[in-house]
Amino acid sequence: MKNFSNYTDYDKKENWKIGSKLVHGALGSDPMTGAVSFPIFQTATFRFRALGDSLGFDYTRCQNPTVEELERTMAILEEGTEGFALASGMAAVMCALSVLKSKDHVILSDDIYGGTYEIAQTVLPDHNIETSFVDLSDIELFKANIKENTKMVFIETPTNPMMKVADIAEISKIAKEKGIIVAVDNTLLTPYYQKPLTLGADIVVHSGTKYLEGHNDTMAGFVVVKDKEIGDKMRAFLKYQGGCLAPLNAWLTLRGIKTLELRMQKHSENAMKVATWLRNHPKVKKVYYIGFEDHKDYQTTIKQTTGFGGMLSFEVDSKQTALKVIEKVDMILFAGSLGGVESLITYPMIVTHHEVPEEVREALGINERFLRLSVGIEDADDIIKDLEQALE
Ligand SMILES: Cc1ncc(COP(=O)(O)O)c(C=O)c1O
Repeated sequence: MKNFSNYTDYDKKENWKIGSKLVHGALGSDPMTGAVSFPIFQTATFRFRALGDSLGFDYTRCQNPTVEELERTMAILEEGTEGFALASGMAAVMCALSVLKSKDHVILSDDIYGGTYEIAQTVLPDHNIETSFVDLSDIELFKANIKENTKMVFIETPTNPMMKVADIAEISKIAKEKGIIVAVDNTLLTPYYQKPLTLGADIVVHSGTKYLEGHNDTMAGFVVVKDKEIGDKMRAFLKYQGGCLAPLNAWLTLRGIKTLELRMQKHSENAMKVATWLRNHPKVKKVYYIGFEDHKDYQTTIKQTTGFGGMLSFEVDSKQTALKVIEKVDMILFAGSLGGVESLITYPMIVTHHEVPEEVREALGINERFLRLSVGIEDADDIIKDLEQALE
């Protein structure tokens, strides 16, 4: 007998394959009406039956059925115990970092997303929290940067835009021995290709604006945890800092997630074709794609992921060529962001990493000849044709 009466009992669908979990979410259909498309509960507040007697919802900043359906879906997909939906990926990053206190130290990937870099450079020091940026694809460098007061390591893997890969299991093993919390920004590969909590991480962070929602039409952010104590801190941050996800945006993200399997497979297939083509172009000096067998971190990649995703970066022969590509692309759009169905190209030096000081950017390789491509799900031949005419 199906439960047609409440929003709290949901089946964790542990024995389903991920493709089915993506389509059916947590509750899937609406338990009250049977609606196959989970409803958008577009309400700020909920009526009480009597004093102290609600139906489990009282105020949307604290709980909302559409948002809860998405949070539970994310917890199922990442194999965590609790998920938290926030208004953007940046809100999710801040939420994860909220476990830090004054005098703590946090280690972050050196070419982390520009916004996270900015938080670590400005917001955290204002709260007397020390930060170190470390190439986390080098485990010895990670070990060497651990201090007495290191409380967290914040990993982005693969990094954006240099596509460096950190060994989540190895870092987690070392961190666990020292009581360091491991947070992983899993935006680029999504739980479809990588599940950090199963590799030993404590917190997963997402910009849901990217592949999860997938259509470049809404902002969202997620945190997923497996430990109750950390979860309670995340819930308190979400509730009192107020960066909750709006019900409509939650619904759009739930809808996007249903097709994640098909989209990720197409993004990856296209990215491999485009990366391989770019690599053989005379004006392209280097292509950064984690699916290449000669990528320096390939062995780590295949140990912890089941696919390579749709992101790649490349360096051309001159600044003029880079600027010409941006100007001449036609089907590929020159825009920030990534992970949507449309192919987007960007110039990280100016668009995504302008907060990063020039000397740091140069040392990372984010120079005036460097471009990042989020390969969409159009026909790969058309993406290549567009790049061909832009590189002429
Ligand atoms: C890896 C990564 N993390 C976090 C963010 C921040 O997410 P949002 O733009 O949804 O706030 C981004 C945005 O580009 C990102 O690429």
